[in-house]
Amino acid sequence: MTHDTTALNRKRHRFDGVAEVWLFGYGSLIWKADFPFIERRPARLRGWSRRFWQGSHDHRGTPDAPGRVLTLAREPGATCFGIAYLVTPAVFDALDHREKNGYLRHLETLEFDDGRCVDGLVYIADEHNAAWLGPAPDAAIAGQIAAAHGPSGANRDYVLHLADALRAHGAEDAHVFAIECELRRIVA
Ligand code: SIN
Repeated sequence: MTHDTTALNRKRHRFDGVAEVWLFGYGSLIWKADFPFIERRPARLRGWSRRFWQGSHDHRGTPDAPGRVLTLAREPGATCFGIAYLVTPAVFDALDHREKNGYLRHLETLEFDDGRCVDGLVYIADEHNAAWLGPAPDAAIAGQIAAAHGPSGANRDYVLHLADALRAHGAEDAHVFAIECELRRIVA
């Protein structure tokens, strides 16, 4: 698969006759909502976990020195907290561009705090994309993040903003907080 998944995503879901779509954000989409939305609310995705396993050549790193950003990995029994946004289909033009480095839109079931479930689109990058980095020890992940910078800024800010946002929502995430802890130790 090429790095740029924009064209693939355009073909994956057609929005003919659809006025509103739920989008689930679990990474930068939690704290950087630079797109218009009708409504947003906390939500959960069952069976997936956040992992810093995706390379970033276009936002938090460069092709020569990729950063590490989040994707979701399947994990039976796990629950991933995130923010669901109700958006118009037009919003996906900008989102497909923002998430073009290996992410594909998936249709998943989102669960709200009141127990209501809706279908929503989620950007997930799997091991078949060209920017995939995969698992590594926490210290190695944090070391790579500490050193990486890209057009959207320092890779470390991606982690620190997310960790702060998760805490603000009272959400637990052992992987994110472990990487944050290593990162704070390295940059101290
Ligand atoms: C997301 O936030 O939902 C996708 C990954 C990212 O852009 O950080």
